[in-house]
Amino acid sequence: MLQTTNSERFITKYNVPGPRYTSYPTVPYWKKEQWSNRDWLKTLSQNRLHFNTNSLSLYIHLPYCDSLCTFCGCHKHITTNHAVEAPYITAVLEEWGIFRSFFQESFELEEIHLGGGTPTFFSPSELKRMITGITETVSLSPNAQLGFEAHPGSTSDEHLSVLLDLGFSRVSFGIQDYDPIVQKAIHREQSFESVALVHQKARNLGYSSISHDLVFGLPKQQLEGFIETVKKTISLLPDRISLYSYAHVPWIKGNGQRGFNDDDLPTATTKRQLYETAKRLFLEANYVEIGMDHFALPTDDLAIAAQQKSLHRNFMGYTTQQSPLLIGLGMSAISDSWFGFAQNEKKISDYFQRIEKGELPITRGHLLTDADLEIRTHILNLMCRFETTVSADSTIDFDQLSELLKPMIDDGLVIINERTVTVPESGIPFVRNCCMAFDAHLNEQQPTKPTFSQTV
Ligand SMILES: C[S@@+](CC[C@H](N)C(=O)[O-])C[C@H]1O[C@@H](n2cnc3c(N)ncnc32)[C@H](O)[C@@H]1O
Ligand code: SF4
Repeated sequence: MLQTTNSERFITKYNVPGPRYTSYPTVPYWKKEQWSNRDWLKTLSQNRLHFNTNSLSLYIHLPYCDSLCTFCGCHKHITTNHAVEAPYITAVLEEWGIFRSFFQESFELEEIHLGGGTPTFFSPSELKRMITGITETVSLSPNAQLGFEAHPGSTSDEHLSVLLDLGFSRVSFGIQDYDPIVQKAIHREQSFESVALVHQKARNLGYSSISHDLVFGLPKQQLEGFIETVKKTISLLPDRISLYSYAHVPWIKGNGQRGFNDDDLPTATTKRQLYETAKRLFLEANYVEIGMDHFALPTDDLAIAAQQKSLHRNFMGYTTQQSPLLIGLGMSAISDSWFGFAQNEKKISDYFQRIEKGELPITRGHLLTDADLEIRTHILNLMCRFETTVSADSTIDFDQLSELLKPMIDDGLVIINERTVTVPESGIPFVRNCCMAFDAHLNEQQPTKPTFSQTV
């Protein structure tokens, strides 16, 4: 009983708008005015020298979807006109060519991730044209990890077999919730049977890592229905499960998320209960909790990386990212050279225009200062390993940091031992709040409009 009271008190106290820390600095605090394509390219050379490797991870953003799910926070473009496929793939290949003309290093591709939008909106032949167009210009590492995000409703047998033949072994299916009431509210109706079928086909063909995305905190979601969703998910035994907190950011995504009322959203306490119940069921089913919103079978790479403390977090969430250089292709895609970030044009028409002009289609970015790099490391440590040590010669004012963390320390959600900051089990739901104490940009300026979703 005491525990419930405490947890409710903490939720009220710590449920504030805050970043998900898929990058540091977070996008709203990027210093666009201190950024240029030329400086960005310099950070790529710095990356190669610093990490002494020619490995490369590629993220390719494929933005189209056949219909709009009203909860969706992704950069997507809704259309039923599949004539858009070929020009978009051509533009991505052109972008790759432009990038290669500016940065003529030899690369070994360690990873390709197709995200969206819906990669399986595209026909298998267009996807094949894109992948081969890239892999014939660089060498593909024998251990390369190739994966794609798939909408179960648009994933055909041919998608699965063509991509498998191209070397893809990982697929993540967007599930969200099986409760018909929730599905109706978010405009995303798909039966468990249809998911089970495509899941099994992927398994039979030989996909070695199958992931399911669930979201908690969706409109109309209730504990009973969500337990059913979790049980159905477990019955298929995916290798990984992402259990995302519903990010309600209607001010960014416009009308898309207004298809339901705010009254339809579960309270912060119910939302936490949804997570905690799902977590208990996953742990009972032998899944390991990873970071703050992932679960994996102990045999999965993500679980192994977490155990070996090599887990990474980037714009796609928790990953086993193989290379210190991530290049994003396609509209809105983000690249990360560790020393800098760059984001492509977010409007498709702007993206096409820049490509037509033969330019890198980057619209904004950030060059990390030494202070940014240090804080980035701490935030990454906290998000991935729940512990970080601030060295004695750090530029971080440790007394000030301890002061900022004092309420969390008093509540048993953070422990400071000498200069090591640890987030114990009880503090994991609030790890983003702990990171916010390190975030120098968050303290230096206030955005004029709401920017982040709630931390709980
Ligand atoms: C690009 S989508 C997945 C691929 C495909 N379009 C689909 O819907 O199946 C990536 C995932 O992001 C998650 N997502 C999208 N919008 C979200 C939001 N507002 N809050 C939390 N998670 C969200 C969903 O779990 C979704 O499956
Ligand atoms: S959830 Fe997936 S299919 Fe639905 S709108 Fe978002 S990206 Fe498209």
